[in-house]
Amino acid sequence: MIQGQEANMPVLTIASSKGGPGKTTVAMLLAGALAAEGGRVLALDADPTQALSRWTANAYEGPPIETVAEVDETQLAHIIHERAEAAHLVLVDTAGFGNRAATVAMTSADAIIVPSLAGEADVTEAEKTMRLAGGLARAARRDIPARVLLNRVKRTQLARHAAQELVSAGLPRIEATLSDLVVYGELSYSGRIPTNGVAAVELAALVAELRSLGWLPARQTNTTTNLRNDVTRKT
Ligand SMILES: Nc1ncnc2c1ncn2[C@@H]1O[C@H](COP(=O)(O)OP(=O)(O)OP(=O)(O)O)[C@@H](O)[C@H]1O
Ligand SMILES: [Mg+2]
Repeated sequence: MIQGQEANMPVLTIASSKGGPGKTTVAMLLAGALAAEGGRVLALDADPTQALSRWTANAYEGPPIETVAEVDETQLAHIIHERAEAAHLVLVDTAGFGNRAATVAMTSADAIIVPSLAGEADVTEAEKTMRLAGGLARAARRDIPARVLLNRVKRTQLARHAAQELVSAGLPRIEATLSDLVVYGELSYSGRIPTNGVAAVELAALVAELRSLGWLPARQTNTTTNLRNDVTRKT
């Protein structure tokens, strides 16, 4: 365990039973943001499509993000446990069809982010994933906090309605949201974590909120790149 790190910090799993709400995009943003702060990030890619591990290997431009691709559910929990010791953050990206590896990754987590688009069907699907997360926590007999992150938010009536649906369904959500922005869509091949404009402000807000929840490790002191300063300077 790294000095100063809390006892059971921090394995953050990103999951949704539905494909495509932005799991890998959120994983890229968070891994990149933490690495930019000087954090030692282990990206664990539990999705057979290996979108995240291909990104860290081929597109990502920034301080190193150690990456392990592991879809075998018999190995995954062991790897998470072993690697968590040496990392400031283990981020697990999962497949969008509720496979066994995703279930293991959720049960191994200290916290779960459930990205959701803002349509009615998407919210229903997020509710299903949240119910699974709650059930797994019960089975494991420990608290595994899970929250919905609204992604690709458009400033429309429909999106506001979906956010309201989450509240009425009693689903805890992350207050920060990610807008529908070209820069996020391009991330998979540009490999650059946004450091200016709306995207950088949204990402900084997301990181700050997750940190306040205790879902991300404290900011590292050996910082070389300062995301927050970049945001302040350029916006
Ligand atoms: N906030 C956003 N703004 C614009 N495009 C986005 C945003 N979030 C995700 N996308 C795009 O939406 C598509 C799906 O996103 P992503 O691959 O991150 O979803 P996923 O949940 O990982 O999907 P899967 O379940 O297939 O693994 C990608 O093309 C991505 O670039
Ligand atoms: Mg994905």
